[in-house]
Amino acid sequence: MCAQAASLDTSRYPHRHLLGISGLTAEEITFLLDISDSYVDINRRDRKKLDLLEGRTVINLFFESSTRTRTSFELAAKRLGADVINMSVSTSSIKKGETLIDTAMTLNAMHPDVLVVRHSDSGAVSLLSEKVNCAVINGGDGSHEHPTQALLDALTIRRRLGKIAGLTVAICGDILHSRVARSNIHLLTALGARVRLIAPPTLMPGKIERLGVEAFTDMREGLKGVDIVMMLRLQTERMQGSYVPSIREYFRFFGLDREKMSVANPDALVMHPGPMNRGVEIDSELADDISRSLIRDQVEMGVAVRMACLDLLTRSLRGAFEAEGADAGGEVGG
Ligand code: CP
Repeated sequence: MCAQAASLDTSRYPHRHLLGISGLTAEEITFLLDISDSYVDINRRDRKKLDLLEGRTVINLFFESSTRTRTSFELAAKRLGADVINMSVSTSSIKKGETLIDTAMTLNAMHPDVLVVRHSDSGAVSLLSEKVNCAVINGGDGSHEHPTQALLDALTIRRRLGKIAGLTVAICGDILHSRVARSNIHLLTALGARVRLIAPPTLMPGKIERLGVEAFTDMREGLKGVDIVMMLRLQTERMQGSYVPSIREYFRFFGLDREKMSVANPDALVMHPGPMNRGVEIDSELADDISRSLIRDQVEMGVAVRMACLDLLTRSLRGAFEAEGADAGGEVGG
């Protein structure tokens, strides 16, 4: 067992679930990042398996496609010794008309310890969390939040640059439909970074400055002097109608290439949550430049962050039940 993980003070994260970054304090976010950091080295060992979640059950319930999030949650749970079920929505009774809530209550009756849920509707994961008595982790809900993505982005930055506070981070592209952007805005501003958003007017949410960010519609203006550039995919699956004139035009004005990058800090780093559309929002030359691109590091940090979340929430769950005098078959929690 990992000595650091063994001594976790769960009172520093007084929540049953991880539904979003909004509402978490800087101290709670930093606590999650510190635990995640302790898992990075474990993941680099030959023997990665721990027994912290032995006897625990984690169910991945993904209503939208995923490569990174679903795989890394599965890997994280298995490395902690849990039993993992990946629910295939396409072959489940959801296809016969069963609702999200009925599906959740059905799974809840099988006594999982953690449900990891991705859903196309903003707020769906929070709603589901009110109907079950296990911990729920938001794997991305509509254009609302993707909290573990923001945590892994922050861990990547912190490990490379040693800090978050004081950095200037530009988040560029389809801000309007991006849950990654929202979670990152909450996290980065909470930890003291300056956040700039860069997007065409059609893809910039109204009154976004209320979240404590600066908004730009010109890449060369917005990228001046930034330390980190986070690129976002055009979320065409959430678009009804046309938001950009053409892919060629979009890349010309909002695609990241060396020329646009030249106005950033000379050491500025490039990030992308994936999946990446090369030649649409980012040029391959930059995406693959290991001296500037943190994209592979982000994927690696994803496993560590998800191990930390599973570890912490299963401990917190046990603590909550002990405090309430309930057992795993107790009343459905709020
Ligand atoms: N970044 C991210 O959420 O990727 P997936 O859709 O592949 O999980």
